[in-house]
Amino acid sequence: MPGTATTRTYYPPSLQILIFPYVCSCIYQTVISQNSIQQILSRIDIVEIVGSFVKLKKRGANYLGLCPFHNEKSPSFTVSPGKEIYKCFGCGASGNSISFIMEHEKYSYVEALRWLAQRYQIELEETEVSPELKQHQLMADSLFIINNYAREYFTDTLFNKEEGQNVGLSYFEERGFTEETIKKFQLGYCLNTFDAFAKSALNKGYNLEYLQKTGLVTIRNDQPADNYRGRVIFPIHNQSGKILGFGARILVKSDRAPKYINSPENEIYVKSRVLYGTYFARHAIDKLNECLLVEGYTDVISLHQAGVENVVASSGTSLTQDQLRLIKKYTNNLTILYDGDSAGVKAALRGLDMAIEEGLNVKLVLLPDKEDPDSYVQKIGAEAFREFIKDNKQDFVLFKLQLSMQEAGTDSNKKSQLVNEIAETISKIDKAEDFTRQQDYIRQCSQLLHIDEQGLIQLVNKFIRDRLVKREQAYARNNPAPSDDDLSEEAIAAMEAAETGISVDSLINGHEKQEKALVKILLRFGDKPFKEEDNSTVADYVFHLPYDFEALAESELVKRILREYKALYDAGNLQDKRWFLYHEDQQFSKEIANILEDQEADLSMKWKEQFEIDTVYGDDAYLKDTLSTTNYLILRKVKKLIYENQAEVQKAFKENDYEAAKSCLEMQKHLNSLEKELTNGMGTVIFK
Ligand code: UTP
Ligand code: MN
Repeated sequence: MPGTATTRTYYPPSLQILIFPYVCSCIYQTVISQNSIQQILSRIDIVEIVGSFVKLKKRGANYLGLCPFHNEKSPSFTVSPGKEIYKCFGCGASGNSISFIMEHEKYSYVEALRWLAQRYQIELEETEVSPELKQHQLMADSLFIINNYAREYFTDTLFNKEEGQNVGLSYFEERGFTEETIKKFQLGYCLNTFDAFAKSALNKGYNLEYLQKTGLVTIRNDQPADNYRGRVIFPIHNQSGKILGFGARILVKSDRAPKYINSPENEIYVKSRVLYGTYFARHAIDKLNECLLVEGYTDVISLHQAGVENVVASSGTSLTQDQLRLIKKYTNNLTILYDGDSAGVKAALRGLDMAIEEGLNVKLVLLPDKEDPDSYVQKIGAEAFREFIKDNKQDFVLFKLQLSMQEAGTDSNKKSQLVNEIAETISKIDKAEDFTRQQDYIRQCSQLLHIDEQGLIQLVNKFIRDRLVKREQAYARNNPAPSDDDLSEEAIAAMEAAETGISVDSLINGHEKQEKALVKILLRFGDKPFKEEDNSTVADYVFHLPYDFEALAESELVKRILREYKALYDAGNLQDKRWFLYHEDQQFSKEIANILEDQEADLSMKWKEQFEIDTVYGDDAYLKDTLSTTNYLILRKVKKLIYENQAEVQKAFKENDYEAAKSCLEMQKHLNSLEKELTNGMGTVIFK
């Protein structure tokens, strides 16, 4: 009998395939073996893990504490050891042990596993690593080691060598950096000699090729030479404090040499993924729920010294998608601090639509002429600086509009172009997530532009509709001849919603509850006995009905869960909910945790109110729930068919096509009896 054997720690081979590309996309190139993951998961105790960050008190079967993800005075954060999940009833945060570590420490999946392995003293095996990957990983480790050595060397030079003190240290002091600040940011100095560092590193046995890769050493006249000669050194840290590379600043003004020499891109330093200062800023960003963005190394450092710690630097370029995502790990609120020079503002403006699509709330603070955050905070002091930010924060969308209005002047072509642009920008705000924000923008922009608000609403809706249609077409292309028309109906509903401003979510939520109820039953009771006579399980029952519930479901999430669950079932490896809860797609497992927690997906589920049916089955509630949920979903389909068929009947009569009318009526009879059978709570029915 398929689907009866349930071992808690089985992981299908597909997991390896799933993890592999994921890991390849990380900087830490590691594939952790199945065996190690199994070992970790078998040791996980959610109460103990969450308990090491949150003070928990036992309340009945659960534990209760103050939520670490938002500020609260009375506890609404619960941990359920039975379900192995946590949920905050205040802010909605939820998940399992791994997602807790990921959220709380802002770790990746692999990093979270490492943390757990360390905690439980499980030695991690790395398997299935291709030779290239292994090579890459060794290289990355070597570069980290060399960078760390260089960091120590340059710090030592700064504090303990005469030239370091006289040149480097006095430069930093002149700029107003305290010793504490210098130590915190691990600043350093590279002697103005040909190869002092290179010699020392080679003496230590570091490989010349690797030293060149880090950019610390170059070849000059066939000799290894120091690249950062006579410069002060700013190490660039990753989120866990390891050194990815360096920025090296020249001390004298020079036309021939660049102001900064930065590390070249290599296995560990990928410029588009790095924001300077995240390591030092992450907790403050999290706590203040805002990230300040500046241009330079010294801006970050000066602000920190002044106690403004939620700040990172883009290093003078426009923001990339990866950098935006990095920020989004900590907050949705991004405030850009820029000096009046418009080059910097323009660069930042280019990233705006992308930031909005990423769901970020972007604000802008323009600094007074000729000031940057570093000079300005040193001039007016920390308190006044904070006030200045608070008082001068402007909305980026409105700022962009004002800027382009100035540019457009009285040119009506340009004006209509900018109306289109702003409508498109506004349309990218996710309605479901932030409906009022979108409305506010429409109101404010129409006022600024002196155009009719209704007109702007229509224009914004047009952009939303265009995108939906495009998505729909793309779907149709990828799925020729769909078996039912559920999706296009959903798209129509979405378009109507865009027209009327009702959220798509509320339109489809009604159906979703019952679909989620089915998933909940499978995850909880899939392996429980259904019929004693033939040893069958709940999952056997669901998957042997002549209906494809994946096709019947409308929710993409439910479809995916059913698909993955069915694959496990077909492979004879039916899992309990654990496999899904620890899925490497943590967003997915989070949504599953939400379903398992959702009281409304329980089977009081409006079944009775909606169809006025009372179901009477055996004593085991889950058996009754299984039957009523599957019946509901089938019934929903039948009702839809009846509705469509009625239209067919009317049409046939109108066209005097009695042949067609007759067959439609036959169908109607069949459907009606199906409906009756279903509403009477019979188990299996078949419709064509
Ligand atoms: P800034 O010229 O504002 O540098 O360039 P800064 O870090 O604030 O330094 P100070 O205040 O002049 O000492 C902003 C950022 O642009 C990048 C660096 O990341 C710098 O922090 N930059 C600038 C370079 O990479 N190379 C350069 O030659 C200049
Ligand atoms: Mn500067």
